[in-house]
Amino acid sequence: MFERLAVTELGPLVPAPRQRSECWLVMGSGLAGLRMSLLFHMTGLVDLADDAVAASRLPGSFSSTSYASQIRKIVGKHHKWRAEECLNMIASENVTSHTVRQLLSGDMGHRYRADDRFYKGTKFMDELESFGEKIACEVFGADWATLRPLSGHLADMIMVSTLAKPGGSILTVSPADGGYPGLSDQAGYPTFVNVRNLYFPFDSERMNIDAEKARGLIEDEKPSLVVFGQSFFLFPHPVKELAEACNEAGSRMVYDGSHVLGLIAGGEFQRPLQEGAELLLGSTHKSLFGPQGGIIVGKKEVEAEVKGRQFPGLVDNAHWNRIAALTYALDEARRNGGKYAARVIENAKALAKSLHERGVPVKCAEYGFTASHQVYLNMKDEKEIDRLTQRLEDANIIVDRGIRIGTCEATRHGMKPKEMDRVAELISQVYKGTDPARIRPQATKLRRGFSSILYA
Ligand SMILES: Cc1ncc(COP(=O)(O)O)c(C=O)c1O
Repeated sequence: MFERLAVTELGPLVPAPRQRSECWLVMGSGLAGLRMSLLFHMTGLVDLADDAVAASRLPGSFSSTSYASQIRKIVGKHHKWRAEECLNMIASENVTSHTVRQLLSGDMGHRYRADDRFYKGTKFMDELESFGEKIACEVFGADWATLRPLSGHLADMIMVSTLAKPGGSILTVSPADGGYPGLSDQAGYPTFVNVRNLYFPFDSERMNIDAEKARGLIEDEKPSLVVFGQSFFLFPHPVKELAEACNEAGSRMVYDGSHVLGLIAGGEFQRPLQEGAELLLGSTHKSLFGPQGGIIVGKKEVEAEVKGRQFPGLVDNAHWNRIAALTYALDEARRNGGKYAARVIENAKALAKSLHERGVPVKCAEYGFTASHQVYLNMKDEKEIDRLTQRLEDANIIVDRGIRIGTCEATRHGMKPKEMDRVAELISQVYKGTDPARIRPQATKLRRGFSSILYA
């Protein structure tokens, strides 16, 4: 029900900017009206209407009202298409619960807070931050946490700045093997801080680090920093297997779990901190279903170093509405993350198998396809990929140009292996040349059948 209300907030129920009292009238009486009004107040959309009315009364102001309705229209069109009609299968995306969305629009988003107590009035933000950090420690089995990084990339920057010395080296998965470009020598962050890139020997058949060869490289090169984790992430990395080599080489060992943080939180992928990494960090909005942002958790020995680098050098104001929303999402993961993560992976395996059986080339068929939320299509030709991903978009099935297909959002909406089989059928028809316009209504019908948000 709330999802419907969130749609009407942008659409036809409020065709023109209204005063707050008019909104109450339009929404009518009863529980639905009350909930809708609350939602308007929580999201600030009433204020958008009020601001527009006020602006239109200013002398010499002609267009503010029409700007406001234009903005509503654009956002409304996006919302109707992407949030109601599309099967969103982008592996780095997810959807937040309604409570998380409401917390994102709360007053903390208007406030500053700084460690040196420069700003007064922050006692409840202080309390919230401690509470969020405590939940994060519980979820990831960490000694300490910070929810302040504004993105996964910024969490990476904090990690590199803290642990890789200028003139030293960093060992990561190469972008050519599905590593994260932001940590590469292709204009990635290490190049800005005079840190030299080394790349893991990689078994591209198994889509994983070649642990034996990597051990040799770590012994020879003694990198300052070894970063596990990658963007095309199908199987757990050999963290345990390489921990001893890293220790002996004096290499700091961390894990960028941007893609798999929700699976780790649910205890279903691997436990990087328990396997030897000092830090686990990443995005909070891919397989984890928080607001867009970043997080770092770790072992006590590195806490002071990381926090000292973070503030004020790399994060000053940390966007406290986001932290409120993330705290809530972490509690959702604490309560329901296990069931969610298991279903995400079950769905990914089911989707991969169904695609494979229908003749769509899926990577790693011999190795069980995947142990994560991602299914990776085995296509090389750029033109073919462009054509397929555009045709899928035309059919209201949204994937990236990778082509990784992710099951997190569909799972959060309640889809199961049966629906994955249906998704595979629609994708395979587009792959085999059926006109996307014929698939589109079927994709939308499937999407519309799953409008709730589970595991909240
Ligand atoms: C492995 C990895 N690390 C970091 C990031 C950056 O995350 P964000 O988009 O939150 O900055 C990404 C983004 O896709 C990623 O795949």
